[in-house]
Amino acid sequence: MTHRMRLVDEAQTHIQRILKAGDYAVDATAGNGHDTLFLAQCVGPKGHVWALDIQAQALDATQRRLMEAQCAEQVTLCKQSHDALINTLPKFTQGKVKAIMFNLGYLPGSDKALTTQTHTTLSALKQALEFLADEGILSIMLYPGHPGGDEEAAEVFRWSQALTHDAFTINHIQTGKSSAPELILIAPKAAGGPRPEQVSDSESDARAQ
Ligand SMILES: C[S@@+](CC[C@H](N)C(=O)[O-])C[C@H]1O[C@@H](n2cnc3c(N)ncnc32)[C@H](O)[C@@H]1O
Repeated sequence: MTHRMRLVDEAQTHIQRILKAGDYAVDATAGNGHDTLFLAQCVGPKGHVWALDIQAQALDATQRRLMEAQCAEQVTLCKQSHDALINTLPKFTQGKVKAIMFNLGYLPGSDKALTTQTHTTLSALKQALEFLADEGILSIMLYPGHPGGDEEAAEVFRWSQALTHDAFTINHIQTGKSSAPELILIAPKAAGGPRPEQVSDSESDARAQ
């Protein structure tokens, strides 16, 4: 649990250094809305966040959190699987989204069967790259410690390693044993903006791939 919290914070720290007021962002797994609220606060009222989840319960919790923080205006909630990203986000956002977050697994305190699935996750990640800005960042939190999560984490890692290293910087951050959460950060190399390995002040085992 400590590791999970630390890596979630680490993902947000990297994103915070890139995502600015007025930007676009996507939360591909809204869950209880912690990441959606974080993104909404970064982009402010002049920016916009699209948050997707397949569960109404998750989107309701996210909506409540946003309302309490008076950030609901700058967020569109979509009851949609993230493998329909291309049909869900407006066309004008292609190549313009500065931060895309995936926090895989199941909704804490809910039905563990409603977890992210390897094939839809991989499809969504490929689509996410179409939307990522040159100076943007894609973060993926992986949870190998639950049934199906180990296969999903391994496949997502394999997919990230198959991306061309001429075009992307890929950081894989592990904190401990094989069942512990992992974080993958992917940033296009094109625009020369801050790259994950340059901004990391983490004490964790951050390995530039
Ligand atoms: C670990 S939770 C996300 C936590 C969330 N980011 C937060 O800050 O509270 C994973 C979420 O992914 C959602 N999910 C599962 N499959 C999905 C899919 N195909 N598309 C979008 N969301 C999905 C689950 O319903 C669950 O709410």
